Amino acid sequence: MEIDIEIEGLDAPSAGPVRTLPGAAYTSAEVFRWELERLFEGGWPCVAASEQVAEPGARLAVRVGNEGILLVRDEERRLRGFFNVCRHRGHELLEPGTTDRVRVQKCPYHAWVYGLDGALLATPRFDPPDGFGRADHGLVPLPVVEWHGLVFANCSGDAPAFAQLVGSLESLVAGHEPERLRCCASHTYEVAANWKLLVENYHECYHCRSIHPELCRVTPPDSGTNLAPDGAWIGGPMELMEHAQTMSLDGRSLGIPLRGLDQQARRRVFYFGYFPNLLLSLHPDYVMVHRLEPLAPDHTRVECRWLFPPEALEQSGFDPAYAVDFWDLTNRQDWSACESVQRGVRSRGYRPGFLGGREDAVAAFIRLVTDCYRRGGLDGMLPYGS
Ligand code: FES
Ligand SMILES: [Fe+2]
Repeated sequence: MEIDIEIEGLDAPSAGPVRTLPGAAYTSAEVFRWELERLFEGGWPCVAASEQVAEPGARLAVRVGNEGILLVRDEERRLRGFFNVCRHRGHELLEPGTTDRVRVQKCPYHAWVYGLDGALLATPRFDPPDGFGRADHGLVPLPVVEWHGLVFANCSGDAPAFAQLVGSLESLVAGHEPERLRCCASHTYEVAANWKLLVENYHECYHCRSIHPELCRVTPPDSGTNLAPDGAWIGGPMELMEHAQTMSLDGRSLGIPLRGLDQQARRRVFYFGYFPNLLLSLHPDYVMVHRLEPLAPDHTRVECRWLFPPEALEQSGFDPAYAVDFWDLTNRQDWSACESVQRGVRSRGYRPGFLGGREDAVAAFIRLVTDCYRRGGLDGMLPYGS
């Protein structure tokens, strides 16, 4: 089989037990660029939350891999995606990382005007050459999808269908209705570690006894199981301790259970990783969303949002801190471990290490990434870990 990117020391498929990736996979600029192009631009990463572009005319400019894209809510409340590139001389329509609300989109450079649908409406004081037609110079669209209040984009336009990546994660997430919940708190972390180390860390609780004493007081660290994936996701439930209502420092919930959850779902937290960059943690009374944005081989921005049901917000004195403080502490414990591993994997003393039975989802992730390296992208490699 032709290998799409050469990485020294990468295990051959079916080469026995799964080991962690070679150091270059976590440190090399070349591998990093390849991942941005093939896994982020060439996949369906999560790029935003729907509520960041909720109202007609709302716009948000985000980076996806090496690309800049513009999310625009049109008058019919349909979400549209465009490359953030003016058709005149290529200026960005909106500064990356910013949001605004407009009736029409005016380029900041020479003031060409586009509709919310991307059509070029006006070219003020432009002296058009022969053959120039506005109809041919609309913004270049790209596919975007909204799913349970999250926005996904495929810059390359040739990724496998989004529904195929999601598979039965749809039915596993639907009961918690994340799209109905409101974001009450968010934190942005900058972690000095490769994005894959953060995903690997999320997918095992083998480390919980060592670095998460608070977490181990509310959930038995060995209670996690991983469901059989049928798309670009992996994960499953963990049990709550008998005294605990949710994940918080004392196990108490100061919110309201999500409507419609059965008895079993009220006693569990579901942890799902959707490839490549979304970590969804579904609690009985709130949902936590981590969205990873790789900035450099050894640097990742993590946007963490906590979502609660509207009826909890209506309670007088509602304070999301019981959930936020718990996870902020736990997040920081995790980031610190990931940063230590990052220093480890770039050492000349690092050798890929064997994964054990408690790390089956990490192994599945590594198998998927390895297959992507060999085959050029996600196409033809689902379900996860197969
Ligand atoms: S680059 Fe946008 S109007 Fe000139
Ligand atoms: Fe952890």
